[in-house]
Amino acid sequence: METKYFTIDETKELKDQVKEAGDILKNGGLVAFPTETVYGLGGDAKNKDASKAIYAAKGRPSDNPLIVHIPDVSWVDGIVSEIPEAAKKLADAFWPGPMTLIFKKNDVIPLETTGGLDTVAVRLPSHPVARALMEESGVYIAAPSANTSGRPSPTKAKHVAEDLSGKIDAIIDGGEVNIGLESTIIDVTEDIPTILRPGYISLDDVKAVVGEARMDPGILSKDSNVRPKAPGMRYRHYAPKGNLIVVNGEKEKVCAYINEQIQNAKDLGKKVAVLSSSETASMYENAKVYAIGSLNDEEEIARNLYDVLRRFDEEEMELIFSEAFETPHIGQAIMNRLLKAAGHQVVSL
Ligand code: TXA
Ligand code: MG
Repeated sequence: METKYFTIDETKELKDQVKEAGDILKNGGLVAFPTETVYGLGGDAKNKDASKAIYAAKGRPSDNPLIVHIPDVSWVDGIVSEIPEAAKKLADAFWPGPMTLIFKKNDVIPLETTGGLDTVAVRLPSHPVARALMEESGVYIAAPSANTSGRPSPTKAKHVAEDLSGKIDAIIDGGEVNIGLESTIIDVTEDIPTILRPGYISLDDVKAVVGEARMDPGILSKDSNVRPKAPGMRYRHYAPKGNLIVVNGEKEKVCAYINEQIQNAKDLGKKVAVLSSSETASMYENAKVYAIGSLNDEEEIARNLYDVLRRFDEEEMELIFSEAFETPHIGQAIMNRLLKAAGHQVVSL
């Protein structure tokens, strides 16, 4: 199929620019669109066939549920069976924004959309293009990240095109996203609100609003018997084709260790890369260095991470050493994605 490409012109009325894409959604088609976190691959959440087509285009396992996007908080009522008090507080505090809430569902959203679960994930994004598309189409938009299953989520329209051109009806190019990591998922069906996937909104942010909150033990544990509650967190994700190893410890030691390893790998004729902060980039020798951002600007690090993970493949890197990025606010989310990409291979010095 030919994929239509719409480029947003910010100086013009958005409504008119998303009209055709909205019609595609209404008619059961698939449209990729920007949100403030990552690009999403949208379809009509009430339409089973649209959901099946999303799974097919991504090559995604059908037991991994989709997030339903809404343009206004009043839309929650239509698809859930219960709104807990904690959900109201969290919605007030963080919507529109990079947060997804898990509710008990009613019968409106089909099981094909929720991967067979009796709960539904709901998000109200702040991105103007996403909002215009929902308002224009009038449909609940089911949207996973717009990447091929297993690859890093798209932070630019060109990433979407790389993975999905020819497989979906349209892509709306609204430029680079601002956060670059997927939304924080909070399960409010449990007595204590539980973070199933860390994101820009941290555990402390959640606690500040609802008091008690916790992390899903399944995402903190390396023990494969403790399964993450969000099905998508159980899969290997984001991994580049080359072998990625995270090196943790004091700055000088990390640099010395990585430089030594680069030398060993070069002797074996391997293409080696280093993923570093901009402050430490000049300390590495004889490897291609990808500086993703300043340690004083964790948002820059988050925004560049997936783009760099994709570049490792494009540039056919065989062995990649990464510094750890334990930054104060979103470090937990950054490290969650980086460790997944590394298949939890960590050298601690
Ligand atoms: O920022 C985001 O959340 C992006 C943008 C497009 O909104 N979307 C996104 O969707 O990251 P996706 O499909 O790539 O990730 C959805 C995650 C998966 O890990 C899935 O298992 C989990 O949410 N999930 C969805 N519904 C769930 C449910 N009912 N219970 C538990 N986990 C759920
Ligand atoms: Mg995803």
